[in-house]
Amino acid sequence: MQLNVVNLNKTYKTASGEIQILKDITFNLEEGEWITILGRSGSGKTTLLQCLAGLLPPDEGSQIQFSNISISEANEDELQNYRQKYLGFIYQDFKLFPQFNCLLNVMLPLLPFENKNKVKEKALHLLEKVNLSDRLEHFPSQLSGGEKQRIAIARALINDPKLLICDEPTGNLDERSRDEVIQLIVDLNKDGTSVVLVTHDRELMNLGQQILELN
Ligand SMILES: Nc1ncnc2c1ncn2[C@@H]1O[C@H](COP(=O)(O)OP(=O)(O)O)[C@@H](O)[C@H]1O
Ligand SMILES: [Mg+2]
Repeated sequence: MQLNVVNLNKTYKTASGEIQILKDITFNLEEGEWITILGRSGSGKTTLLQCLAGLLPPDEGSQIQFSNISISEANEDELQNYRQKYLGFIYQDFKLFPQFNCLLNVMLPLLPFENKNKVKEKALHLLEKVNLSDRLEHFPSQLSGGEKQRIAIARALINDPKLLICDEPTGNLDERSRDEVIQLIVDLNKDGTSVVLVTHDRELMNLGQQILELN
């Protein structure tokens, strides 16, 4: 994969006028690379990630290219296909489904598309990888923050993503859970997964090859 972002602009139109949040963001991410995006709260980090994931349209003239897919020009079907095939997304607040157990939470993204037993096998393998094989039947409310985030990581990996987008994945974790979650992402990156990590934790800023600071 390759991610090319050229002159990415994003303006929100609100009742009280337009506010430009992202201005001329340009960077390239090669296969297996890691970029860390820093910036204080409100600087537009989540907005940027949503644009990269095709969840939010950038302003006209912005270019976001993932390999041979033009994210900034793709239609809704193409974007859905892009997310399903190539992307893993980890949210700061986990976004697990409270009504489903851990195993099902991890299986969900692939369930509509692939054989159930195959998906289950894969989910079990991922849960082993994040060290939660003993929590399969637990519900999110029965887990610690670090455990929830590890479930969310397993879920983000169910489609073997080429690109892992992480929005402050350690923002709600204590130090020990933070280190575990970061180690998982480091290991994935070693195995070739490209990473976009948003954080305001400056201790994490030297992970990866590139740093982008939003002001
Ligand atoms: N849908 C929206 N409409 C208008 N303004 C928004 C919207 N979403 C976010 N913003 C504003 O854009 C700015 C950047 O938000 P965000 O990308 O969430 O920042 P960060 O993730 O760095 O904290 C904030 O000032 C926020 O209030
Ligand atoms: Mg944010």
